[in-house]
Amino acid sequence: MHQAEIIFNEEVARGIYLLRLCADKVAESANPGQFLHVKCTKVPHPLLRRPFSIADTHREEGTADIIYRVVGEGTSILSQKRPGEVLDIMGPLGRGFPSPPPGTLPLIVGGGVGVAPLLFLAKELSKVAGLEGRAFLGFSTGREIFDTEVFESCGFSVELATDDGTCGKRGFPTELLEDFLKGEKKVQAVVYACGPRMLLLKVKEIAASCGIPAYLSLEERMGCGIGACLGCAVKSAKGGYKKVCRDGPVFEAGEVEIW
Ligand SMILES: Cc1cc2nc3c(=O)[nH]c(=O)nc-3n(C[C@H](O)[C@H](O)[C@H](O)COP(=O)(O)OP(=O)(O)OC[C@H]3O[C@@H](n4cnc5c(N)ncnc54)[C@H](O)[C@@H]3O)c2cc1C
Ligand code: FES
Repeated sequence: MHQAEIIFNEEVARGIYLLRLCADKVAESANPGQFLHVKCTKVPHPLLRRPFSIADTHREEGTADIIYRVVGEGTSILSQKRPGEVLDIMGPLGRGFPSPPPGTLPLIVGGGVGVAPLLFLAKELSKVAGLEGRAFLGFSTGREIFDTEVFESCGFSVELATDDGTCGKRGFPTELLEDFLKGEKKVQAVVYACGPRMLLLKVKEIAASCGIPAYLSLEERMGCGIGACLGCAVKSAKGGYKKVCRDGPVFEAGEVEIW
C-alpha cells in the first residue's frame, strides 16, 4: 500500500476522468495491463477498493495515470478529488500483456474506457524500432472519445467506430478488426483487447477463426485484489477457476470462459 498524491484529476471526455498520481514505485515497475487497487475514500464506506488499469507511467517524473468512467459510488467520489489530496493505492497488481513475438503485427481492440490499458501498451510497444500496428477503437458516441491520437503517435493506424455513428463507422470495433483480417489472410498478428464482455467474446471468436493469438484484459468485480478472497473468479477453460486479480487481468483468450 502506498499513499499517492493527486497531481491532477480532470474530465477528458463526457464522464471520463484522467487522474495522475505521484507514485514513483508504480512508475518504475508497472507493465501494461497491470492495475492499481484504489481506496476512493478515507472513511470506511465504500469499504472495498476499486481496480483501475494503469493507463500510463512517466518514470522520470515518478507518476502514474489512470483513466476512469464515473459509474457508481466509488468513481463518483474519486471524481471529486482535488490535486494535493492523497489516495491509498495498492499496485501495480496482476499479470499484464505479453510482448508480441518479433515480426508480428499488434492489433489493438478497445471499447470505451477499456482503451485505458491499451494506451500504456501502445506506448511500450512503440519503443520497438519500426513498429507498425493497428488500433480498432469503439466508443458509444463521439463525446466519449479520448486519447486516440496517442495511438497514432505510437505508430498505430487508428480506425474508429461509434454506436451512434457520430464518429468513424457506425458499429463496433470488432467489425473493423474482422474487415481488416478478411483483407489480410496471411498476416502474422496478435490481438490485444480490453472492453465490455461482448467485445471480448467477439474478439475471442474472430481470433480463433483466423488462428491468431489474442490476449484479453478482463474486468470482474474485485474484493482483495491479491488472490485471497475468490471475489474475482472466472471459469478456466481447463476446469476450475482463475482469479482475475492474480492470474490476470490479462488472459490468453483460450485460457478462460467468457460468457
Ligand atoms: C482489472 C480491472 C481494471 C479496470 N480498469 C478500469 C479502468 O481503467 N477504468 C475504468 O473506468 N474502470 C476500470 N475497471 C472497472 C472499475 O473497477 C469499476 O468501474 C469500478 O470499480 C466501479 O466502482 P463504483 O464504486 O463507481 O461502482 P459501483 O457502485 O460498485 O457499481 C456501479 C456499476 O458499475 C458496475 N461495475 C462495478 N465494478 C465493475 C467491474 N469491475 N467491472 C464491470 N462492471 C463493474 C456495477 O455492476 C454497477 O452496474 C476495471 C476493473 C478491473 C477488474
Ligand atoms: S479480488 Fe480477491 S481473489 Fe481476486
